[in-house]
Amino acid sequence: MDKTIVIDYQEYGSLEELPCEDCALMQRAIESTGAAYAPYSGFHVGAALRLKDGTIVVGSNQENVAYPSGLCAERTAVFAASAQYPQCRDYEALAIVARNTEGVLCEASPCGACRQVLLEYEFRQGHPLKVICYLEGGRVRVFPSVATLLPFSFEF
Ligand code: THU
Repeated sequence: MDKTIVIDYQEYGSLEELPCEDCALMQRAIESTGAAYAPYSGFHVGAALRLKDGTIVVGSNQENVAYPSGLCAERTAVFAASAQYPQCRDYEALAIVARNTEGVLCEASPCGACRQVLLEYEFRQGHPLKVICYLEGGRVRVFPSVATLLPFSFEF
């Protein structure tokens, strides 16, 4: 029997069309691209995670000459939040953006490993973690939950 998965998400024509707090979150993610350490890829990714109490924790990709030892911006942010604020392991929204070698802002969509990591926090908190992705030309795509981004995820 054939089955189909439908993914619900929203797109906005510009950052300013987002709710204020999500626009501000994306601005923090944009700033965070400046803290990326990406000498090998030249792809500077910034992430900003908003906790339920309003705290914002930022992350950026941190690369290493032993390539797999580096870490994506999304996991840098969420692991930092979990380590620094274990009492508020409750995440509302994550904004993600990248800057290419020319310094131009561009799209960043979480990789598979980041989706799996984010999903575990979402499962544990029992409510959705919204994922806000910058798109080419300043548009924005919003996924209402991490589960939306990773159907048939690994669990045991
Ligand atoms: N990267 C991220 O930080 N987040 C993503 O969502 C995709 C990829 C990083 C990993 C590596 O440092 C560089 O971007 C190129 O893959």
